[in-house]
Amino acid sequence: MPSDVQTSYSKRAEEYTTLFGSMESVHPSDVQLVTAWAGQIDGPILDAGCGPGHWTGYLAEKGHDSRGVDHVRAFIAHAREVHPGVPFDVGSIDVLPDAPGSLGGVLAWYSLIHHKPATIARPLGEFARVLRPGGGLLLGFFTGPAVEPFEHAVVGAYRWPPEVLAEEVRRAGFEVVEIHTRTGAAPKPRPHGAILARLRVTGR
Ligand SMILES: C[S@@+](CC[C@H](N)C(=O)[O-])C[C@H]1O[C@@H](n2cnc3c(N)ncnc32)[C@H](O)[C@@H]1O
Repeated sequence: MPSDVQTSYSKRAEEYTTLFGSMESVHPSDVQLVTAWAGQIDGPILDAGCGPGHWTGYLAEKGHDSRGVDHVRAFIAHAREVHPGVPFDVGSIDVLPDAPGSLGGVLAWYSLIHHKPATIARPLGEFARVLRPGGGLLLGFFTGPAVEPFEHAVVGAYRWPPEVLAEEVRRAGFEVVEIHTRTGAAPKPRPHGAILARLRVTGR
């Protein structure tokens, strides 16, 4: 059965794609951060919860072996059309088909924001499973003073204090390398966070 998140994004996929589905809509400092992160990755990169696929396409253009996965069919159809030759799959980031240790990097750009706090260990555990030891994880999310729900335009989401989310990332088997924060731009001044982490070489 589709989740609320899947159903809500499916209904608004066209609108979301128009507003946010291209690199022009991305904040320049995010482009810088993701580009620099990807430059250090050795091996295939999975764009987990890729939405309309603009980051996946961008990373492929930069020469990375990138692939996108999202559970919203309309996003994947759009991504395949706009980025021919780049692989995209319909699927859940909670259950990835990838073999253990087969990926160099996972980008989860605002794709964990809809997970209830009690369930966020699931995708983080999957990322740890599919990454090779030393593989890189980059998370984008909304920050706040406490783990709390907020009214996201598409469907309910959660903001996280960066250090609390970082602890979840560590618990999943990663070493947190950097935490970035920035204020949001008007008219939606939501503070943003990013966590860069590496899968611990010695295992979980
Ligand atoms: C805020 S959007 C971000 C999309 C894209 N990463 C971006 O930067 O524009 C959240 C995305 O995560 C996807 N998503 C959320 N939970 C998911 C899940 N369990 N499995 C697959 N995709 C999921 C949604 O369908 C949506 O495309």
